[in-house]
Amino acid sequence: MFTDNLEFIQTGVTEAPAGDPAPLSSIIGSAIDRVDGPLKTTGTARYAADYNLPHMAYAVPVCATIANGSIASLDTSVAEKMPGVLLILHHGNIDPIFRMSAGRGGRTSESRPPFEDETVSYWGQYVALAVAETFQQAQAAAAAVKVTYKSQAPNVTKPMNDPEPPAGAKIESHRGDSEAAFAAAPIKLDATYTTPAETHNPMEMHATTAVWNGDKVTLYESSQGVVNALTVMAQHLGIPKENITIIARFIGSGFGGKLFPWPHSALCAVAARRTDRPVKLMVSRKMMFSNVGHRPRTQQRMRLATDAHGKLVSLQQDYRNHTSFGDTIKENCGEATPFLYSVPNLKVTSSQVRRNIGTPTPMRGPGAVPGLFALESAMDELAIQLKQDPVAFRLAHDTLIDEEKNKPFTSRHLKECLQIGAEKFGWSKRTPEVGSMKKGDLILGWGVACASWGAGRGGSEATVSLKSDGTARVASATQDIGTGTYTIAAQILSDKTGIPVDKIEVVLGDSSLPPGPMSGGSTATASLIPSIADAANNAIKSMLANAGNAKGTPFFGKQPDALAMSKGRVHLKDESPEAGMAFADVLKAARVGSATGDGKTGPAASENKDAANHSSHSFGAQFVEVEWDPGIAHLRVSRVVSVVDAGRILNPKTAGNQMAGAIIMGIGMGMMEETIYDPRNGHAINDNFADYIVPTAADSPDISVHFTNIPDPFIGEYGARGIGEIGLAGIAPAMTAAVYHATGVRVRNLPIRIEDLL
Ligand code: MOS
Repeated sequence: MFTDNLEFIQTGVTEAPAGDPAPLSSIIGSAIDRVDGPLKTTGTARYAADYNLPHMAYAVPVCATIANGSIASLDTSVAEKMPGVLLILHHGNIDPIFRMSAGRGGRTSESRPPFEDETVSYWGQYVALAVAETFQQAQAAAAAVKVTYKSQAPNVTKPMNDPEPPAGAKIESHRGDSEAAFAAAPIKLDATYTTPAETHNPMEMHATTAVWNGDKVTLYESSQGVVNALTVMAQHLGIPKENITIIARFIGSGFGGKLFPWPHSALCAVAARRTDRPVKLMVSRKMMFSNVGHRPRTQQRMRLATDAHGKLVSLQQDYRNHTSFGDTIKENCGEATPFLYSVPNLKVTSSQVRRNIGTPTPMRGPGAVPGLFALESAMDELAIQLKQDPVAFRLAHDTLIDEEKNKPFTSRHLKECLQIGAEKFGWSKRTPEVGSMKKGDLILGWGVACASWGAGRGGSEATVSLKSDGTARVASATQDIGTGTYTIAAQILSDKTGIPVDKIEVVLGDSSLPPGPMSGGSTATASLIPSIADAANNAIKSMLANAGNAKGTPFFGKQPDALAMSKGRVHLKDESPEAGMAFADVLKAARVGSATGDGKTGPAASENKDAANHSSHSFGAQFVEVEWDPGIAHLRVSRVVSVVDAGRILNPKTAGNQMAGAIIMGIGMGMMEETIYDPRNGHAINDNFADYIVPTAADSPDISVHFTNIPDPFIGEYGARGIGEIGLAGIAPAMTAAVYHATGVRVRNLPIRIEDLL
């Protein structure tokens, strides 16, 4: 069983960061179960498509079958007469869906609103929408809409393989003279790496259920950002924000594919308004492969050079990625390159090429993950050229200064990640010669790669109520995409008040709550928890002020500063909590329903000015073992040790689960995932789970996850950075390094295919 080979170990220190005003309770760092777990496992949690409203109708899109051209004719006459059909929407009869208004904020995914005109620029693009009494009737009507096209030859899969950066390539980072240093160096590597288009495949499909009440609309959405969705939908629909509520109580993940609204959301809202019925629109898995984003293809030329002693003297990365004809999306492959290793001369350039494919969007570790495939592969190749151990080669180039920004890191323990990982993996037993390690008939390969991801913290608001019924409530307009946000919110409030987690209600996923962060960029935790702490501190202040009014209690007439709240009890500051009273009894005595506090916090630099003088990232090291069976040409990842340096870990269970999931996703990236587009029409021909291969439980290796658990002194009181993306970074290059070690074949084009190894 999967759970039997999964191990989470915390290492490192657990004390609070310097200057921490409050001692941390044992709830912080405790591996408690997800507080929302029972709702999910009992089927009680409702996802966007689970809302079944009275008189609801169903919408099914009609998708373009060309990749480039325009609609020549659209005949809805048969479809409109079919049973149960309420409406067929298309470019000829749609109410306006407005473009994003300059300066109004928010980010949508496709700048061209759906049905704006006859243009078709990718296969699958919505060209009509059938709305009917039942889902089946809507499906049948959608199939009966007759569309003809004026088609032009599409540009779908043309390779990007011009190694030189094109004129006009953007210089992302530059220091020293990388060209001259490369030319003069005695040892060099010039290699080009590619990664394919990958499609996010969350368990839960994108879906919208829209219901109007007069001029107000509620959209039940599968969204990684209810606040952004609100801002975007107000502009698309041309109505005030206060007339819109976005609800996303539970999300079956998104991996970035649900960060920014896609066309189906506005279409569903318009269909509901036009029919005066609640309307549900669920994007099918097939549509998901063309209409809600993907990780674009990347090509990265890496030029690295060392001096005669193996010291890096030059690092150049020239990358490009595909984007759509509608939007220019950069896959930021140079995210980690400028600061991961010490090197005096460096240059990173980027460019994009347009293809007739839907608009790409961030996918877990956007940019950094494919970027690190190239950088870490190149580092491995160079170490081998130098006859150096790949761990030692990386350790030799570790740096505690971000050489791009010339600033120290807030907290960087990459060295410890490599050392702990090497020890846990047993790296010292590795023999470097290709094919030299055996296990029976199997050849073992051992590979390593480093990982990195930015550690951001943005603004957030939250509200906390301590209630006279003995429970507490914390609310914020953020959302839990399945990673544990509900749980850590309860842990923070419990830490501040001493109220046990099972007495705490966490309310998220509603845009009408105080605005919280997106679940994106691994920033939700670092952004949200300071606002909860602030709200909790203010709620406690209110509690103590109420205690002074509580007749018949020892606190009556006392000033708040003589009182304290801990272990869920109000007490005199110089007495123990046990000598005080339960907070609910104090509120009852004061005849007050609740003590409430609001919290509002900003980026890390707003709390600690010195944060701006530092560079903030998380780090990690990935160790992978593959088993290669040359007799039957079978490759399997058998063991992964992952060490992650992401500040304090608030909950090793939710964090460890995220890392384990990321490792499995990394195996998919390394040897399975690729969205294959038909060059004739842009159709993603493997647009289903039978043909788009992702790892199953049987593909899962022994996984061992470790955290340095060293609080980041600059990111906030708890010292916790985010961990969503970093777990995926470094897995694929550690796999290809392991494959090289086993077979002598260097795979530079993902995914690894058996044909590569024969
Ligand atoms: Mo992440 S790609 O920011 O959901």
